[in-house]
Amino acid sequence: MMNQDQTGTMRKIHIFDTTLRDGEQAPGATLTPEQKIVIAKQLAKLGVDVIEPGFPISSPGDFAAVQQIAREVAGVEICGFARAMKEDIDAAVRAIQDAERKRLHLFISSSSIHLDFQLRKSREQVIGIARQMVAYAKQFVDRIEFSPMDATRTGDEFLFEMIEAVIEEGATIINIPDTVGYALPEEYGAMFTRVMKNVRGGQQVQYSAHCHNDLGLAVANSLAAIQAGVSQVEVTVNGVGERAGNCSMEELVMALETRKAAIGAETSIRPEHIFDTSQLVSRAMSFPIAFNKPIVGRNAFQHEAGIHQDGLLKNRSTYEIMDPERLGIPRSMIILGKHSGRHAIKHRVSQFGVELNEEQMESFYAAFKSLADRQKVVHDHQLLELVGHTVNQVLE
Ligand code: KIV
Ligand code: ZN
Repeated sequence: MMNQDQTGTMRKIHIFDTTLRDGEQAPGATLTPEQKIVIAKQLAKLGVDVIEPGFPISSPGDFAAVQQIAREVAGVEICGFARAMKEDIDAAVRAIQDAERKRLHLFISSSSIHLDFQLRKSREQVIGIARQMVAYAKQFVDRIEFSPMDATRTGDEFLFEMIEAVIEEGATIINIPDTVGYALPEEYGAMFTRVMKNVRGGQQVQYSAHCHNDLGLAVANSLAAIQAGVSQVEVTVNGVGERAGNCSMEELVMALETRKAAIGAETSIRPEHIFDTSQLVSRAMSFPIAFNKPIVGRNAFQHEAGIHQDGLLKNRSTYEIMDPERLGIPRSMIILGKHSGRHAIKHRVSQFGVELNEEQMESFYAAFKSLADRQKVVHDHQLLELVGHTVNQVLE
């Protein structure tokens, strides 16, 4: 484990946001160039280190969006995305030309299954292309990120050979994607350890994790990579992306934030902008957020069980490990329903300025439970109607 060094200094994890490139590949999540610009500005405000705003060769609209973001979004590195092909590289170089800080991200597949059935090329041919294209890109941009696609289903020998080759040609950041979300955390972390140890030149580059969530392991795998020494993680807001999506920005950042001492690493993300950013992306992509999604889901800070509500009213940390207000989320709510206890109900009623005596409370509590049995949640207006009704009955 690469925890805090002996001076207690936290390692900085760079957040590479690919919501506007890999995230936009989520079925139905397409964005207009105007929406991309608004989101990119919000990502800069959130504090991400790198933005990958699109795939410049893929369409004139995407090219224009990447170009405008490169021109207008300051204080963050802008990354042009390209297959290992001259036309792609040329388009990406032109699109990011005016960025304050820029990098190019090149990829080519490395697994046998991709080479045999998709690229239909031999290993020698693929290594040759990777070398040539990194060398070609290097004349335009100094910072070159390289990704061997489907790396987690690639044998060590060929993976090392490919990484060694691109480092020799000038790649400065090695991103190792779990393209199909197949890796397990220990495997993924161990793969980085082996690469760092065995690849010639492997000590002089920066490493990056890029995880997909097909088995629900994208965040766990990214954390394993961090513990193996990776200093960049590629994420998307709300975890949007192909199939089951990518590593979720908010989940990874809050895992690091909440367990900072255990992990020994931190990011530059400003948590107070997490909720707004999540809402913005969800609305722009017309992509709803699951109620139980960690951090930003509707229920993430809501409590219904009576025992939990009682504990929360005494001390919030009984059932909350994060302060929702720090994430820009309105104060955590207690949901009143059939699981709520007397204490929570009395507390809510008192928030409306109504103090019930014991007799009133008994009759009100019985009426509340019977209403809650009939419906999932008792809303505040129904609560107040019930109060009025019960109190009057007791007074009569
Ligand atoms: O999942 C993947 O392999 C990618 C790369 C091209 C980085 O998105
Ligand atoms: Zn991906």
